[in-house]
Amino acid sequence: MNIVITGAGKGIGLELSKLFVENNHNTIAISRNINTLKKIDNPFLRPISFDLTSVDYSDLLEFMSKELGSIDILINNAGLLINKNFNNLTDADFDTIFNTNVKAVFKLTQTVLPLFNKNAHIVNISSMGGVQGSSKFPGLSLYSASKGAVSILTECLAEELKEEHISVNALALGAVQTEMLENAFPGFKAPISAHEMAKYIYEFALTGHKYYNGKVLPVSSSTP
Ligand SMILES: NC(=O)c1ccc[n+]([C@@H]2O[C@H](COP(=O)([O-])OP(=O)(O)OC[C@H]3O[C@@H](n4cnc5c(N)ncnc54)[C@H](OP(=O)(O)O)[C@@H]3O)[C@@H](O)[C@H]2O)c1
Repeated sequence: MNIVITGAGKGIGLELSKLFVENNHNTIAISRNINTLKKIDNPFLRPISFDLTSVDYSDLLEFMSKELGSIDILINNAGLLINKNFNNLTDADFDTIFNTNVKAVFKLTQTVLPLFNKNAHIVNISSMGGVQGSSKFPGLSLYSASKGAVSILTECLAEELKEEHISVNALALGAVQTEMLENAFPGFKAPISAHEMAKYIYEFALTGHKYYNGKVLPVSSSTP
């Protein structure tokens, strides 16, 4: 299979990229910092340094067309969290969070639409914070709102892409032990490691679209 994973340089995305290439899937791994990816010696891995908040995606599209030709699975995993009380958040924080967490999902998905194979699966990584009615936490208002937007975008995209046999689902993750979690909840120990969550997402990306389309599924065993 041909796979594209964003936010692949560390955390959950890095573990996901390793799983896909260890299982012989051609994988384009996108992050700004790809130092860790470059150290992985696996012919199935194609890392590319790219800032998903960029205006121009044409070089990225060219790379994906050349290296993969077509795509079976896109995992929009890249994300950014700014932990600040609402009163202290700035316009720049808003733009950074929404450009990374929402606009990049829109732009990348739209950019690669011509490359999707029949029965392709888009998996958007959302968050429990973006689920209506879930527990909310101070400092995470814009992050959580951006993930709420990703969830609704997922539902809308599934509707628009179903005639093209492309499925779109979102996983609303709970706490996973990564740098992002440490930023959001300093000192909190998550019950799930990045590798364990990656294993779940890996299986879901390969098989979940047989059972779900347009769904936002909570994947969480703790609060937070
Ligand atoms: N960890 C949790 O508890 C948790 C809970 C709920 C949801 N999530 C979601 O799970 C996903 C992965 O999170 P994580 O915990 O693994 O976070 P992480 O360790 O902070 O990793 C985030 C990844 O996103 C990439 N990224 C950020 N901005 C980018 C940009 N402008 N262009 C390209 N790549 C960018 C980062 O790489 P570079 O900095 O190299 O670009 C990094 O690889 C995120 O969407 C997050 O919101 C995580």
